[in-house]
Amino acid sequence: MKARNIISCLIGIGLCTSAFGGCGAKEEFIGEYSFRNGGFEIGTLTGWTVEGSAFTDHGVSVKLKDGSGVGYNYVGDFFFNGEESASGSATGSILSVPFELKGNGIIGFLIGAGKNTSRCYVALVSEDGETEYERRANDEFDENDTANVLHRVILDGSAHIGETVRIKIVDNDSGTDGFNYINVDDFTINYQGVESPVGKIFLANNYIEQNRGRVNQRYRHSYHVMPEVGWCNDPNGFSFYGGTVHLFYQYHPYSSAWGPMHWGHVTSKDFIKWEYQPVALAPDSVYDVNGCFSGSAVEKDGELYLIYTSVDSQNNQLQSVARSSDGINFSKLGRNPVINAKQLGPAMSTADFRDPYVFQMNGVWYLLAGTRVNGYGQIALYRSTSLLEWDFVGYVLNNSDANGPNYYRLPGVYECPAFAVVDGQQILICSPQNLPTDGARFQNVHSVVCMVGSLDTKSGRFTYDKFEEIDGGFDFYAAQTMNMPDGRVVMTAWMQMWDRAFPTAADGWTGSMILPRELSFRNGRLYQAPVREIENYRQNKAESGRRDLRDGDSVSFEGISGDTLELEVALEVGTAARAGVKVFKGAFHETSIYYDAEHGTVVLDRSKSGTIISGAESNRSTRSVAVTPTDGIIKLRIFLDNTSCEVFINDGCATLTANIYAGENDEGIEFFADGGNAVLRSAVKYDIVVD
Ligand code: FRU
Repeated sequence: MKARNIISCLIGIGLCTSAFGGCGAKEEFIGEYSFRNGGFEIGTLTGWTVEGSAFTDHGVSVKLKDGSGVGYNYVGDFFFNGEESASGSATGSILSVPFELKGNGIIGFLIGAGKNTSRCYVALVSEDGETEYERRANDEFDENDTANVLHRVILDGSAHIGETVRIKIVDNDSGTDGFNYINVDDFTINYQGVESPVGKIFLANNYIEQNRGRVNQRYRHSYHVMPEVGWCNDPNGFSFYGGTVHLFYQYHPYSSAWGPMHWGHVTSKDFIKWEYQPVALAPDSVYDVNGCFSGSAVEKDGELYLIYTSVDSQNNQLQSVARSSDGINFSKLGRNPVINAKQLGPAMSTADFRDPYVFQMNGVWYLLAGTRVNGYGQIALYRSTSLLEWDFVGYVLNNSDANGPNYYRLPGVYECPAFAVVDGQQILICSPQNLPTDGARFQNVHSVVCMVGSLDTKSGRFTYDKFEEIDGGFDFYAAQTMNMPDGRVVMTAWMQMWDRAFPTAADGWTGSMILPRELSFRNGRLYQAPVREIENYRQNKAESGRRDLRDGDSVSFEGISGDTLELEVALEVGTAARAGVKVFKGAFHETSIYYDAEHGTVVLDRSKSGTIISGAESNRSTRSVAVTPTDGIIKLRIFLDNTSCEVFINDGCATLTANIYAGENDEGIEFFADGGNAVLRSAVKYDIVVD
């Protein structure tokens, strides 16, 4: 708990000044419970008696020793940095001024480095410096990968209250094999707190704090969620709690590539403006040391529960729970994993058992998780009344029968399941890996599908008659839904795809989320619309009016351009073979979205968009969805956000989503017809402005 207090303090206001009431000893103010230069705030070793060569003044400095980018967690402006002070092989000690040990006799201080605990340590000694009463070394050195980072420990001097004592800092390690020195800071007498080892959550937040400023801004979005720095993939724990929308995400802060998974966290009042929160989960327990994988969030008895896949050092995937009463600081349950290896369904293995999605039906909690049975993708259903104890119910998909009606027997996992009731219709969403192409459908190797049907909570089976791709574009994966108190079912998804290059990686970040979508179900199908709140951010309306588009025309309109906007288009497709709009257009680049009369599809073509996104899709740079014009008209609602393009077709009965990495000035918009004539009935543009 204490460590988390420090975190929010750091995140909120920069450097911590008083997390324990003891931080921030300043030489200028020597109060009842401090001694001269006990926090090294003079910036020299004034007040300390130096012996040997391990401790020299020029080392007492350093705001941030920034080779690795990780901060040191020091207090105030200075700490004693042994690495800066002398060579690793130097030995010696420093002795504080004598002082009377008052209060509770407990001395709190920060310690780091000092790998050899018998040679590098801090001692409470007698006034003459000859007798050592208590000793404390960096016993946690090997526990966390923290190296130089300081963490709070205590020296218990309560047997010497009222005596005159001194602090002695010793470095007797003459080796050169690394960390043969000691870092210390902020000696605080009458310390009231507890020890607080450096936690991985602290380290992650500290890293973010130190590195968010280094991210190259060129490809950043303005109204889409993305990590401050580092990598993100799936959305997790999409939920409404405490009057706020919460969105977590698979997060590796330390590089722009996938790595040991944390849960990043953002909150919003309206799905458009998001606030970064401290990292919610870090892989800091034996059962999740290889990652806190995807999962979901639900509210129970006023607390927000995160249900996630914990991956242990052997890569066993099991399900665990963390909970919070403030929606910010989460504690993992002592009984984790709450679904362990003894609770698997028949022929399941812990090698693939992930992405728990929890929901409630008739007062019972259900959990869906992607898995593999006899080598083929499956989804398992569990039930619980407590969220803590779970029973296996059965398998959701009828896919072990090769002749079955819904035969999608895949060698991959049905990742990231989600379940929702939309306008009275049950839908099961999931992200099957290695889904074979089917005409224009499933072009991305991995896909997100929506099955329309009904769940039998007794057998676990979901019977469905439709198995549809949710988004026909390039960059859409791991979709997850949440329920708003106003009845809306809102969906988000990762706005990238596996097995491709990520052009932002060179800029220090990777990954973002789609503009959240409201789902509705009508005419036997799923519709998607951008959350209505986006309309509050419209500015600078510009309109085209009606315009005939003759074969070969490509026309632009005053005021209709830009790269961060909404564009509503109504197009009479006429006799044209292709009619549509080009966005992100510049001298060398364009991205076209058009109706293809021959195939009866709407196409998104990014072959000339800009940076080629290499990987599984590099040779097929168009995507399309079947669409029938209504009364000869195709309606497009397009959202651009610097490097993304989301197209809602005919009120959202189909969508196409893609990343586009065009040039800096590629902001043109043109309407065109080819192979015949069309009519632009209207085009309306709004800039989307989020301050
Ligand atoms: C899907 C996925 C999940 C897993 C997570 C790991 O994109 O592979 O199945 O939990 O990513 O980051």
